[in-house]
Amino acid sequence: MKDVVEEIKELKQQKKATILAHYYQEGEIQQIADFAGDSLALAREATKVENPIIVFCGVHFMAETAKILNPSKKVLLPDLQAGCSLAESCPADKLARYQEMLRINGRKFQTITYINSTAEVKSLCDWVVTSGNAEAVVRKVPEGMEILFVPDKHLGQYLTEVTGRKMILWDGACIVHEIFSLGDLLAMKKKIPDSLVFAHPECPANIRAYSDFVGGTEAMLKKIASYNSPADIIVATEPNMMWQMQNRFPQHRYYPVPGITCACNKCPHMARNTLEKLRDCLVNESPQIVWQPCYDRAKEVLTRSLLN
Ligand code: 13P
Repeated sequence: MKDVVEEIKELKQQKKATILAHYYQEGEIQQIADFAGDSLALAREATKVENPIIVFCGVHFMAETAKILNPSKKVLLPDLQAGCSLAESCPADKLARYQEMLRINGRKFQTITYINSTAEVKSLCDWVVTSGNAEAVVRKVPEGMEILFVPDKHLGQYLTEVTGRKMILWDGACIVHEIFSLGDLLAMKKKIPDSLVFAHPECPANIRAYSDFVGGTEAMLKKIASYNSPADIIVATEPNMMWQMQNRFPQHRYYPVPGITCACNKCPHMARNTLEKLRDCLVNESPQIVWQPCYDRAKEVLTRSLLN
């Protein structure tokens, strides 16, 4: 019997498909992908794909973004149920009502959404940001305007810290980053002298406060690339990120921060994609992302925010 990796490689050729994978996918998926990256690089890479099929190994909003930015392609997602707690926390109708309430109260504001949101939410916003470009975009909002930032309150709070811009924050959080155990992190720091803590800006302030570096997944890799001697790095983000770190920079040692309730702290949504589902979606050319009416407006916002 052929092994599943071989099957995927053959199907990829046969169907002329490009596989894009987020750093939070299992190492075996990142390894077979044509391109692995953070949310920003993946969105940009999706616009360059020439093959007729994109298989997006990530969560729904990422595949949706790829479809919006490259509409003529068939965009497949190995498991259509791969969602995102942040996207769920901000339903479009609730956001629209909140914006209306602010307008009725005479507030002058622009709305920035984290890319971890539905296309319908993006279509209601002025800007879309990822961890990779958020600071630069926040600085583009005219001083006289307030900022409504959705849905990640921790990322919003972090952006206020680094840019000095106050924001109206939505009450959303990522289930993975929200529950890192501070007690365990402090115990690890004590146990591993000279260790460096890397935290994603989706982490709450208590974790960020004890971190040596705060940045998105690509920024973490860039920072690690700058180290000359082997380091001990404690990582507060989805643990599959460590596969990419280990793969690119094997000279360092990496340690995951456990969650309060779950020792591994893996994203259950990202974990829905498996090699078998990746193979099956190539065979069936399904499930795929189907164009929705709100994608037209979301495309304008995404293009202005991520591609310019
Ligand atoms: P980045 O890879 O852009 O840092 O984002 C991580 C993330 O939140 C994925 O859902």
